[in-house]
Amino acid sequence: MLSWDDYNEEDTPRAVAASAAVAVSEPEIALEQQLERQIDVPEPAAPTPPTAPAQPAVNTTAAAPEPVVVPEPVVAAEPVAAPAPTTAPAAIPPAAPAATTFQPGAHIEPENHDRVTVDQKAMINCRADLNQLVPFKYDWAWQKYLDGCANHWMPQEVNMTADIALWKSEDGLSEDERTIVKRSLGFFSTADSLVANNLVLAIYRLITNPECRQYLLRQAFEEAIHTHAYQYCIESLGMDEGEIFNMYHEIPCVAKKASWALQYTREISDPTFDTGTIETDQALLRNLIAYYCVLEGVFFYCGFTQILSMGRRNKMTGTSEQFQYILRDESMHVNFGIDVINQIKLENPQLWDEEMQTLARNMILEGTTLEIAYARDTMPRGVLGMNANMMEEYLQFIANRRLAQIGLAEQFPGVKNPFPWMSEIMDLKKEKNFFETRVTEYQTGGALSWD
Ligand SMILES: [Fe+2]
Ligand SMILES: [Fe+2]
Repeated sequence: MLSWDDYNEEDTPRAVAASAAVAVSEPEIALEQQLERQIDVPEPAAPTPPTAPAQPAVNTTAAAPEPVVVPEPVVAAEPVAAPAPTTAPAAIPPAAPAATTFQPGAHIEPENHDRVTVDQKAMINCRADLNQLVPFKYDWAWQKYLDGCANHWMPQEVNMTADIALWKSEDGLSEDERTIVKRSLGFFSTADSLVANNLVLAIYRLITNPECRQYLLRQAFEEAIHTHAYQYCIESLGMDEGEIFNMYHEIPCVAKKASWALQYTREISDPTFDTGTIETDQALLRNLIAYYCVLEGVFFYCGFTQILSMGRRNKMTGTSEQFQYILRDESMHVNFGIDVINQIKLENPQLWDEEMQTLARNMILEGTTLEIAYARDTMPRGVLGMNANMMEEYLQFIANRRLAQIGLAEQFPGVKNPFPWMSEIMDLKKEKNFFETRVTEYQTGGALSWD
């Protein structure tokens, strides 16, 4: 069994690279009003007509592209940045069709090609052959791929027996604790699908670097494992699946977060969307900030903290252990996304203008406001040694960190991390806890016996 004593030391919060602190203005009231209108959103995703795949001249893949199902827009959209290659600013050289997609129609001539060099590789709008993983330009991306693989785990490896008994006993958990378990599974069970769909349907084809794509493929699989883990918990505990999986439609504080993220998927998931202008490159950047800095970087942290706090008190330890492994993956996803965002800024400084910086700052502040509202809704009273005010400070601490990570000034001066044990869990190495909990006979992808 996982020992939560390992995380009880209240260490000093990890230092955050701090820029000059700037007092934050009151969260925009208008935001709350705007989001209010989005509660009734996430419409069920409706399929859009598949893109007609280009005729492959050389069949280098096994099959033609599958039809793409694009998440349905959730609210009246912000104007979608329309591709406008003819108005491309000088910074983006007009050239042959951008190789932002796989280019299944590209003709491969074995005797008439240039070998890919590191200098040709770029994070976006790269025209070098995307099928050649090496030579690496971004060693950190490859290393993250290797680290992700080293952390591989499966939900069935976690023993859920004690959770099942506790959940089914009448006085095992308080009503507030039960609400937290249900809300967490309700939010996360669909949130990871939002992330996975955004990766596969929006981001992947626009990131034109093979080693980063390799990590994106790993991340996409991890998101599938996470959704699997939530489903595994929901099924193990015998919850009403309809109730849990529909929370992102039916519970306002959950729906607002889902709706906020989906607008950014909608913006760039149109199959005709492509990067190559300042406007479209910035749209991709907005999506990356929305998903890596806000959805995975802020929206996950109230629920993670609540469930892991439960585990530290020896309640729902199986569910907590699942969340612990997920949190470890997620912290790597965030770090990867931050690196990608900063690399894009470095290679395309014209994208990171004052307006974009203001937008990015506001996006992180909006996300923090939504997550604080989620914390207040799920914790009307103190529970599990925490309360909504402590969570608010923690989320502001996280927001400061996200802002600093992409080069923006912190907006919540003086806030401290009330939950330093969270940092320790994020940094745990697999060996430290896996050997305490896993069965001796390793079997990926299958159900394990826990007798
Ligand atoms: Fe995930
Ligand atoms: Fe993730």
